[in-house]
Formats: sequence, structure tokens, C-alpha cells
Amino acid sequence: MKSEFWHQRWSEGQIGFHQSDINGYLQEHWRNLYLDQGTVFVPLCGKSSDMLWLRDQGHSVIGSELSELAVKDFFEENGLTPTIEEAERYQRWSSDGITILVGDIFKLRAEDLMGVTTLYDRAALVALPESMRWDYVHHLQKILPHQCKMLLIATTYPQEEMAGPPFSVDEREIRALYKSHWQVEQIFTHNFPDDHPRLKNRGISRMEESVYLIS
Ligand SMILES: C[S@@+](CC[C@H](N)C(=O)[O-])C[C@H]1O[C@@H](n2cnc3c(N)ncnc32)[C@H](O)[C@@H]1O
Repeated sequence: MKSEFWHQRWSEGQIGFHQSDINGYLQEHWRNLYLDQGTVFVPLCGKSSDMLWLRDQGHSVIGSELSELAVKDFFEENGLTPTIEEAERYQRWSSDGITILVGDIFKLRAEDLMGVTTLYDRAALVALPESMRWDYVHHLQKILPHQCKMLLIATTYPQEEMAGPPFSVDEREIRALYKSHWQVEQIFTHNFPDDHPRLKNRGISRMEESVYLIS
């Protein structure tokens, strides 16, 4: 998936993936996981309100996002005035405990994520086509501090029925992707009923959302 694809989605306002509400799985499962306080990394963060919720739980938040438009919207829509700094590989927008590194996640280095204890992935892994998912996870292995845990939300559906993103990423693939460095535990699964609007609108016959703890 080329950068241009995402820049176009943001400039045309085609951001059906964006949820204005805080993600229910995040609120339900975050505390139960006994995740450490500390900095949370939100890859491919868009303008997700989940970053505000994480900040309000006492975490510092670092997001990574390609689109400057998304990041501008995030700060404006939430009444935050960011400090903007130019760095070599990205721009750093920060305000009130939330920092977003604006640029390509593949340019981040371990030194950019020092202090990160947890990664929160909603619509990040599933935003990437299969050919990029291995590179993405390999990159995370290189840049995340040791002992970093993850909460990951993934979607599964018959891939032939819809072109992603979001792509269908099932439990088997998630285990294969992460197993060299992490333990994967599926902690919750929700099957959408056949007549759910998310299936009907997309013309897909079944869909499942799962939550994983990766540690
Ligand atoms: C499906 S959206 C999910 C956004 C957010 N996680 C949410 O829950 O609303 C994927 C986001 O990843 C961003 N993105 C795609 N490729 C990226 C890359 N290589 N580096 C940083 N961000 C990227 C896109 O601009 C888009 O905002």
C-alpha cells in the first residue's frame, strides 16, 4: 500500500475507519491485562480518540502517522495546541502528553521509542496488505524496547469477498507473524450477526473481530 493511497484517503475524507468514540475493546481489556504504566505506542494512529483515553489513564502516548492532515485534525478537533518540531526523519507534534511522529513508521528507530512499554494496535496491522505485514512486524521487533507488550485488535472475513483495507488477518497468521519474539494469546472474539450493517454495507458474508494480548 503506497503512501499516496493514504494521503488521498485523508485529503478526500475517505476515512470510514475512523471511530469518534473510544474503542470498546480497549476500554474493556486494557486494565485487565495488568499492563504497566508507561508510554504507549500507537502505530498508524490516524486521528484516533483512543490516544486521548490512553493519556487519561495516565500513560504518555506516542503515535506514528503518515498524514499531516490527520495529525492536524487530531490536535484541532480535540482543542489541543501542538508544539511542532522538525526532526531528521519526521515531524514531532506534541501537546498534553501526546506526541505524534508524522512520517513513515518504517523510518522510526529504537531511539525514537525509548520508554515504550506497550503498543496498542487498532486498524494498524489490518491496514497493511499481506506483502507488508511481515516487514512491519520485523520492523517492530527492531524498534520496540524489550518486554514491550501489545494489545491488538484484528478482523477476519473471507478476503475474496472484499478488497482491503481493512485486510482479513486471522489467528494463524498473527501467531506466525509474532511468534519469533512474542507469545500470542487470543483473549476475546466477537462474531458479527449476518444482518449487521458492517457486513451488509461491505457485501461480506461473515466477519469476526478478535482481541489479542501479545507479550
Ligand atoms: C486504517 S487507518 C487506522 C487509523 C487508526 N489506527 C484508527 O484506529 O483510526 C491506517 C492509518 O495508517 C496510516 N499509515 C499508513 N501507512 C503508514 C506508514 N507507513 N507510516 C505511518 N502511518 C501510516 C494512514 O495514513 C492511516 O491514517
